[in-house]
Amino acid sequence: MTKHFNDETFRGDYTYYNSPEAIRRFPFPFDRDSYMYSVNIEQHPGGPAGSPFEYAFDVDEHYVAEMKDRAITLAEDPLRCQSLPHMELAGWDLLELIMEAKARDYPDLFGLHKDGDRWHWINRPLRIDQRFTFLDATTLPYGPMEYITRQAQGDFALLHEREGNLWMDAGMVTSQADWSLDFDVGMNFFEWHAPVPKAKKMGVFDKALKFLLAVQQGQAYRRLNWTMTVNPRLDTSPENYHKWGPEKRTITPQNVGRKQFLRVELQSFWRLPRSNAIVFPIRCYLACLDDLASQPKWGRRLHRVLRDLDPVLVEYKGFAVNRDIIVAHLARYDDGAPTSPGI
Ligand code: HEM
Repeated sequence: MTKHFNDETFRGDYTYYNSPEAIRRFPFPFDRDSYMYSVNIEQHPGGPAGSPFEYAFDVDEHYVAEMKDRAITLAEDPLRCQSLPHMELAGWDLLELIMEAKARDYPDLFGLHKDGDRWHWINRPLRIDQRFTFLDATTLPYGPMEYITRQAQGDFALLHEREGNLWMDAGMVTSQADWSLDFDVGMNFFEWHAPVPKAKKMGVFDKALKFLLAVQQGQAYRRLNWTMTVNPRLDTSPENYHKWGPEKRTITPQNVGRKQFLRVELQSFWRLPRSNAIVFPIRCYLACLDDLASQPKWGRRLHRVLRDLDPVLVEYKGFAVNRDIIVAHLARYDDGAPTSPGI
């Protein structure tokens, strides 16, 4: 667990960095030398001590800087956080889930004391000391979902279940891989996934929805997703494409190793107790190519995955313009040695 929080930025001068420890624990997403969409779901939490999978909500060295970045994005565009009126109870469920998990897993950083419905929340890294009444929104400075997700890394989609489907009826989305909450809010599982190529025909979404609808209270699951981002930018939203889209053209063979980032999303699914909603946290981890390649098996494998990736996925994930430079750079880390399955 971390006690040190990096002083860093995810925009402007991009001073974001990973310590050697953060590189070692990076959630490298490839368990073989090739990649295609699949229903890659497993139980959560659970994983080696110190890994991002160990606890329900991983708190790492980027915590304080990520929360500052979220506050900047929200100040510029409040529509990154939206909750339809029937989702307030789900917001309280989420607040309870996150507060209990953080206080349990990181007791030196967070504290939660309950006296009936009078709760006392302490967040030491962000210097927050809040007394409030559970289920009474007038006692918090924001609605419950916004209040707690301003203090939790990653994006959060809150899904309402009805008509055998899931509907994105609330969310906090400021670190997304080129999709928009404002566009998707009110859509169902198949509607918001419509832009994804290939997966529907492969039956991935039918199977995934069936799985999600069967998740019971007290159970949680996770999967990893990934894409590529130029510069360590959290807010790669369609709303701000004019800011980050042109940065893709700044990649050169000389700077690609430090400027091109693998963006991994640790996604989890939780059934919430009072509302029966599902929460889908999407936690983003960023590491540049050269940092990843400091682990020889990752450099070797990333080269093979990106070299052989289906061009349709390269296009959808938005790095077609730089793929050749990336693959040529990574080739230097691939000695041709065989790799074994597993991370
Ligand atoms: C992509 C949301 C669950 C598979 C996406 C996108 C969104 C999203 C907003 C971007 C679509 C776009 O281009 O506009 C969600 C939410 C989920 C969920 C809120 C929880 C209810 C799942 C599950 C799977 C899955 C369980 C299982 C296989 C995918 C895939 C992509 C995708 C393969 C394309 C990702 C890429 O290539 O970068 N999802 N998703 N999703 N989703 Fe989901």
